[in-house]
Amino acid sequence: MQTNIRRSLVVGNWKMNGDKSLIGKMQSCLSQVDLGNMDWAICPPAPYLGLFDSSVRLGVQNVSQFDSGAHTGETSVSMVKELGCQYVIVGHSERREDNFESNEIVALKVQKILDAGLTPILCIGEPESIRDAGNVFDYLTTQLNAVVTLLGISAFANIVLAYEPIWAIGTGKTASPEQAQEVHAFIREYLAKQDSNIAAGTVILYGGSVKGSNAQELFSQADVDGGLIGGASLNPEDFLSICLAANQ
Ligand code: PGA
Repeated sequence: MQTNIRRSLVVGNWKMNGDKSLIGKMQSCLSQVDLGNMDWAICPPAPYLGLFDSSVRLGVQNVSQFDSGAHTGETSVSMVKELGCQYVIVGHSERREDNFESNEIVALKVQKILDAGLTPILCIGEPESIRDAGNVFDYLTTQLNAVVTLLGISAFANIVLAYEPIWAIGTGKTASPEQAQEVHAFIREYLAKQDSNIAAGTVILYGGSVKGSNAQELFSQADVDGGLIGGASLNPEDFLSICLAANQ
């Protein structure tokens, strides 16, 4: 992390994991240290949101693109706001795949989240076949363009981006610090071509098999501002050591 206008951020994405006992363990582990130089948050499964104490900044893993009504099984952004959430993960590759969320649906969700005054954590990232074919930048450009087309570049003043190469998620196959930096620099350049101030201020997280043992090296890259952490966020000590790597 550079000394710059961006504050580092580490977000735990529990996915459909965890239980009530993990909430207490996580809270007591994280309360033992001063993480005052960074921001951190946990995105548990939605049913657990109300069980955290106020020491934990919360987010959710998804919201509906609709406001209310006949959408069985969905959660609205106003509901998660009422429960004190600050962040909403949107466009995670698992939702794009399992729930057929297109770039356009993801952009609509980003709009709802911003309208509610919450912070979208907009996930983008390529499958392995796209990387092997040398088309990473085109693929990410298409994902980003959908949001710029609907909301304009100014929306990115309030969006956190997360670069999550699909081949690195849950596989133990982390992008090397150089691979992560190359893509993060490309994303910042994409933004800078449209607005250099917004580009300089946008927090860009890396996600994909981040662990206590590799966080420091990843976070030391100039354009990597923190991490979106899946598996390792289910282990309080691991998650804490990742936060400490960002708390420089
Ligand atoms: P992982 O997941 O850390 O388990 O690879 C990251 C994510 O999907 O957000």
